Amino acid sequence: MKVYENYSLLHHNTFGIDARCRRFIEYETVDELRQALAGLRERPDEPFLHIGAGSNLLFTADFPGTILHSAIRGRGEAGADADTVLLRVGAGEVWDDLVAHCVDHRLYGIENLSLIPGEVGAAAVQNIGAYGEEVEKFIDRVETIEVATGEERVFAHDECRYGYRSSFFKGEGRGRYVVTHVVLRLSRRFAPELSYGALQKEMDRLGMHEPTAAELRRLVVDIRRAKLPDPSERGNAGSFFVNPVVSEEKYRELSARHPDMPHYAMSGGVKIPAGWLIEQCGWKGRSLGPTGVHDRQALVLVNLGGATGRDVVALSDAIRADVRKSFGIDLHPEVNFI
Ligand code: EPU
Repeated sequence: MKVYENYSLLHHNTFGIDARCRRFIEYETVDELRQALAGLRERPDEPFLHIGAGSNLLFTADFPGTILHSAIRGRGEAGADADTVLLRVGAGEVWDDLVAHCVDHRLYGIENLSLIPGEVGAAAVQNIGAYGEEVEKFIDRVETIEVATGEERVFAHDECRYGYRSSFFKGEGRGRYVVTHVVLRLSRRFAPELSYGALQKEMDRLGMHEPTAAELRRLVVDIRRAKLPDPSERGNAGSFFVNPVVSEEKYRELSARHPDMPHYAMSGGVKIPAGWLIEQCGWKGRSLGPTGVHDRQALVLVNLGGATGRDVVALSDAIRADVRKSFGIDLHPEVNFI
C-alpha cells in the first residue's frame, strides 16, 4: 500500500487540474483496501473519495480528506460455456487494455467501447457507453467491499440497477461500496453492433462491410481520435454533459423551430444531443479564459492550459445559461464535480 500526504492530483485527473488532497492511498489487494478503509473509519470526520483514472472528474478545490485509488490488477477466466466466457478483472486495470486483450483473445462484445479512458472499476460504476453499446450488457456481476464494514458484497447484474450513464453505485449506493473486481460475460462469437450513425458513415466511407473485431476496434479508435482531444495534449474529461431527454411535447415544439435537430426516440421521451445544442448556441471552438469548447465535438470542454476547476465551472455555467435561454433545456454535467 502506498500512502502520500499533501499530494498533487495533477496526474490523477485527465482535465489536468492541479488540485491537492490531504492523503492519497493506492492499494494493490483486497486486504490492503480493507486496511485502508479501517484507517478511514478512525477518521470519521474526514471526507474520502475513491477515484479511477480521473477521466470523469473535475476537482473544483483541494480535497480535504483521503483519496483512494485501486491498483488491483489481473484478469482470469471465472467460468465458461459453449457460447460465452466469464472474465474476472481487477478494478484497477486500464479499460482499453482490457478491450485490446479481449479482441486479441477472441472474446467479443466490448469492441465498440475501445479507447474509452479510465479503469475497469469506474467503467462498471458509470456504465460507460459508446457507439450503440453500454458496458452493463456485458457485466455479469460486480465484486465490492462495503466501506462501513469491510465485508465483501457481490452485486449481480440486476442489483447494479444500470441506466444511461448511471448505476446503484453512482446513485443510492454512492460512497458505500468500493468495486474490487468486475466479472464480464463475453461471447466466443463475434456479433458486432454496427447500427450507430457515426460507425455506419465511416464504414461506408471506407467501403467496409463485414469488419473483423480487430478492424472494428481500429475503426472506433480512429473515430474517437478524430473527434475527441487526447487528454495528454489537452486536458478534458470526454463528454462534459449528459444528453438531455425531453418530453414528446417539448420535442415537437423544438422540432417545429429546428427541423434539422438530431434526436433519438427513447422509452421516457426524446434524447437530443447536447453537443448539437451547444454548437447551435455558438460555443463550438470558443474559449472563456483558460478553458474552451473543443472545435470538433462541442460536448467536450477543454483545459487550454493552467485552468482551475473553477474556470471550467464558469465555462459550464455560461454554456448552460445559453442553452437554457435558447432551448429551455437544462443541461446536466456528466462529469463529477469534487
Ligand atoms: N453533434 C453536433 N455538434 C457537435 C457534436 C455533436 O451537432 O459538436 C450532434 C451530431 O448531430 C451528432 C450527434 O450530435 O450526430 C451525436 O454526436 P456523437 O455521435 O459525437 O455522440 P454524442 O451524443 O455527442 C455520445 C457519448 C460519447 C460517445 C458518443 C459515441 C454521452 C454523454 N456521450 O456523445 O461518450 O463517445 O456518444 O457513442 O452520451 C463520454 O461519455 O465521455 C463520451 C465521449
